[in-house]
Amino acid sequence: MADKKKLFIKTYGCQMNVYDSERMAEAMGGAGYETTDSAEGADMILLNTCHIREKAAEKVYSELGRFKGLKSENPDLKIGVAGCVAQAEGEEIMRRQPLVDLVVGPQSYHRLPEMEARTRSGEKALDTDFPEEDKFEKLKSRPKAKRGPAAFLTVQEGCDKFCAFCVVPYTRGAEVSRPVDRILTEARDLVERGVREITLLGQNVNAYHGAGPKGDMTLAGLIWELDRIDGLERIRFTTSHPNDMMDDLIEAHGSCAKLMPYLHLPVQSGSDRILKRMNRSHDRDSYLRLVERIRAARPDILLSGDFIVGFPEETEADFQDTMDLIQEVEYGQAFSFKYSSRPGTPAAERALVDDAEASDRLYRLQALITRQQRAVQDRMVGREVSVLFEKPGRFDGQMLGKSEYLHAVHVADAGARVGDLARVRIVESGANSLSGVLAGA
Ligand code: 5AD
Ligand code: SF4
Repeated sequence: MADKKKLFIKTYGCQMNVYDSERMAEAMGGAGYETTDSAEGADMILLNTCHIREKAAEKVYSELGRFKGLKSENPDLKIGVAGCVAQAEGEEIMRRQPLVDLVVGPQSYHRLPEMEARTRSGEKALDTDFPEEDKFEKLKSRPKAKRGPAAFLTVQEGCDKFCAFCVVPYTRGAEVSRPVDRILTEARDLVERGVREITLLGQNVNAYHGAGPKGDMTLAGLIWELDRIDGLERIRFTTSHPNDMMDDLIEAHGSCAKLMPYLHLPVQSGSDRILKRMNRSHDRDSYLRLVERIRAARPDILLSGDFIVGFPEETEADFQDTMDLIQEVEYGQAFSFKYSSRPGTPAAERALVDDAEASDRLYRLQALITRQQRAVQDRMVGREVSVLFEKPGRFDGQMLGKSEYLHAVHVADAGARVGDLARVRIVESGANSLSGVLAGA
């Protein structure tokens, strides 16, 4: 048998890209490729890119520049750009960086093997269509190899919300939900390969409305279907929009034992004036009431959020509204960003907040969030949690896993294997993780 060719994929950005990279690797497996951990010696390099903020997009070009040497050493090396930068900039990428042989947008990954073949005959290949055919259906066969116990599964893509700052509706397109039966087949297949925890992914995952046997199904409906799969122990989903947090989903948080008590529910800002300008279609009060309802259903749920500071026209008073909201909610985790103007979005036309001021707000917000996160984490000490072991730790016998609240937990002398679920008593809270001992030990 001929030696397999080597594919190096570097993934930027969100978890959807992590999932897509896996699927691309599998598709290229059918074209004689296996993945490698290093760009050196690869026959093909693929950057799966993110366009959400300017810095993320610029990283791609500096990374591409670094491949110049590799390409002169090996003229047969093919370099491809996938993901949201590919979608947003298309041919411009090849103009700016002639090293690039292939540009493929997120909706065209099933065409990757055929595009790669075209580059082998000296062509440049570009595909940033939003084709009618379902890329996941075309990518459907997943190899049977064993894999880690926690997996991502994309159930929904795209977004119709058009927040004024966001490129997603342009790069990922309109909201599309995958049919229920395909998701269940993929989930069962993952479980057969050793997966015990599945995180359902979508840019607007709780807007899920995939075709089921009796008409469209909600995300809660899908979760209850997944709940019936033996061997699947944990279900998560991300990212949710506050306006799509339906009653049946809130209820599922109270009644579905496999649904983990963690919810990523971005609010972006705590100021009604800014939320309106962001076109978020919810306000501060409706968000806070929603949080109350979710906590009534599942009191121990850990909430996580996204925040943007320095959105055009944000004043210090608006920013204080965000800080107050954070105080009121108490997040166990949060991601915060300085506003980054994205070409083609409505907010890109507006006057920017002074950069030093925006940086200062980000600093203050992150300090508050870090304190909250730590307080929430510290309160775990003395409690018993369940941990799914994902990998061995640095020390002999030590295992590393995640609690139901998504905290990283180290357990010394765990006497456990990767994929085991264990009850663990938390004994210490560190900078970024918890340590525990097996309960009863
Ligand atoms: N500038 C800064 N942050 C942004 N996000 C999305 N677009 C922008 C932008 N233009 C953030 C939002 C979103 C997260 C994925 O990225 O907080 O929830
Ligand atoms: Fe972007 Fe999320 Fe708003 Fe959609 S809901 S436009 S993905 S920030």
